[in-house]
Amino acid sequence: MKVRRILALINLLLVISVTAPAQKQTNDRARWFTDSRFGMFIHWGIYSGAEGIWKGEKIRHNNDYAEWIMYRNRIERDEYLTLLDRFDWNEIDPEQWVILAKNAGMKYLTFTAKHHDGFALWNSAASDYNVWNHSNPQRDILKELAEACKKHGIRLGLYYSHWIDWEHPYGWNHAMELTGIAPEKYDIYWQEKVIPQVRELLTNFGDISIFWFDMWIHHSESVVTKEQLLQLKSLIRELQPDCIVNSRLGLSIEEDPDIDFKTLGDNQLGRTKEEFPWQSPATVAHSWGFHSLDNQWKSTTTLLKSLINNVSLNGNFMLNIGPRANGEVPYEISQRLLEMGQWLRVNGESIYGAGAFDLDKELHDWGKITCKQQDGRTTLYLHVYNWPLNKQLTLTGITTKPARIYLLADKQQSGLPFEHTGAVTKISLPFLQPDPYISVIAVEFGQYPETIMGLAAQTTDGGFALRPDNLLKSDGKITIQRKEKYGTIPEFIAITQNQKITWKIFVDTPGEKSVDISYSCQAANPKGSLTVRSGKTELTHRFVNTGKTIGEPNENWIIDQFSSFRLGTLHFPEPGFYEIELEATPAKKEQFDFQWIWVR
Ligand code: GLC
Repeated sequence: MKVRRILALINLLLVISVTAPAQKQTNDRARWFTDSRFGMFIHWGIYSGAEGIWKGEKIRHNNDYAEWIMYRNRIERDEYLTLLDRFDWNEIDPEQWVILAKNAGMKYLTFTAKHHDGFALWNSAASDYNVWNHSNPQRDILKELAEACKKHGIRLGLYYSHWIDWEHPYGWNHAMELTGIAPEKYDIYWQEKVIPQVRELLTNFGDISIFWFDMWIHHSESVVTKEQLLQLKSLIRELQPDCIVNSRLGLSIEEDPDIDFKTLGDNQLGRTKEEFPWQSPATVAHSWGFHSLDNQWKSTTTLLKSLINNVSLNGNFMLNIGPRANGEVPYEISQRLLEMGQWLRVNGESIYGAGAFDLDKELHDWGKITCKQQDGRTTLYLHVYNWPLNKQLTLTGITTKPARIYLLADKQQSGLPFEHTGAVTKISLPFLQPDPYISVIAVEFGQYPETIMGLAAQTTDGGFALRPDNLLKSDGKITIQRKEKYGTIPEFIAITQNQKITWKIFVDTPGEKSVDISYSCQAANPKGSLTVRSGKTELTHRFVNTGKTIGEPNENWIIDQFSSFRLGTLHFPEPGFYEIELEATPAKKEQFDFQWIWVR
């Protein structure tokens, strides 16, 4: 009995230790954050009254972030306040923002308590440039928001512009690049505004889950000193030890591992899997603050894909709303958020508490995978962006047989038929996808699934595209030439002497398969040749001059042509792993630009 209990305990500990996404630098403070994955950003302040236009002139910058109007259009501190005349203090209701966040499936929000304009959206004792002094009836917007967050169970984060402050005479203002500012003066701003205000924010509004600073350059390139930043961080640690801090404080997570999460650039999505917590701040259109001329609305599907993409790489997604001066959230934004919420009510299991799965390459052409471990089970969530025409979904790279497979949208969780052979799982899908945006398939395993690294995946239509980015090995150093000229020149490997490149695939349907190759060769009468071999069969081909083509009409845009040639067929006698080798042998002074091999 005892032994069994100990075993159960060990099992439990194992589960707990792997349940947490494998983020070495996630401290306990940030665990709720990586579990939450989806949050709301709120940009609202005096600038919301301008709606991107000042005295009939649109904001002076093509990157028209409406919240920058004070700086861009050179508006004086006091005159800027006249924008408040447009605010309807009886109408504004911050609770509505919180309710929207809740309905959108967001777990936290980050509110611009003080943006670059230096105007505090609470009753600040440290600066009378604040909302309480300038609203009628008097309102403490942050206090109301904090109460609403508490009421609806949404965690509260605060954006605080520490580096830039256009209101305080000694706060950083980029116009000071002309004049400079003495460090002692900047420190006056720091000690009499930043520190006391951050203290107020950490004292008067209950639990603050995130402090979100906004300095996008390293402190060494700015007026702020590392000491000042550390002073700010220790204040947070002292007053609210559970509050997490972002890297735009000006300290990178590499420089200071005590920074809780990394903030990517504005609207920058993740590209690689990371082991530490990170987040993309994003907008539904372009501007953060409400801008009446903004019209680059991303679709709900695009926004969902951004969220899923980040989660599949262990990241978070924080999506912005820019309410108007009366507090109203533009329909284009609220509608998309509500649609995301609907999707999450059905499919949220694949997002909350989920993270990356350990496949080494961007394998699948149909969508993205997230992974979660709970109660001794591992579930992979396949987010199917393109419902396959033949209703067969191929999962490549996992050698453990799934225990069961079902659609998240199916409350009964009726099993979908599947076949598992070696490293390929073929799932039969229903004729119609259950979700108009992105349907999710749960693939459950009784244990953590084993994977094979380095495989090139089967595409949705049953072929193998063997490219520079999914090769297994090569017998010498290769350089991948990235796309050029807007992709009219594709990615390729330039080969000038004998070179072997190998891919590994898993074939579940054996037999004869045709082999095509795409390359460019500009030698006038090429003498070189290539061989593609697998097992005992091989195909050879003498290089052909592929000539030139026009990349773009009417632009005198002449580029090397990449053409594809059918080499013949290779035989794959039985289901299993196969290596496919390309041996290219250019003659002297010949160049062979290899693009891809297509086996099907
Ligand atoms: C930039 C802008 C700012 C916006 C922020 C959101 O730092 O200066 O206006 O608040 O990005 O990520």
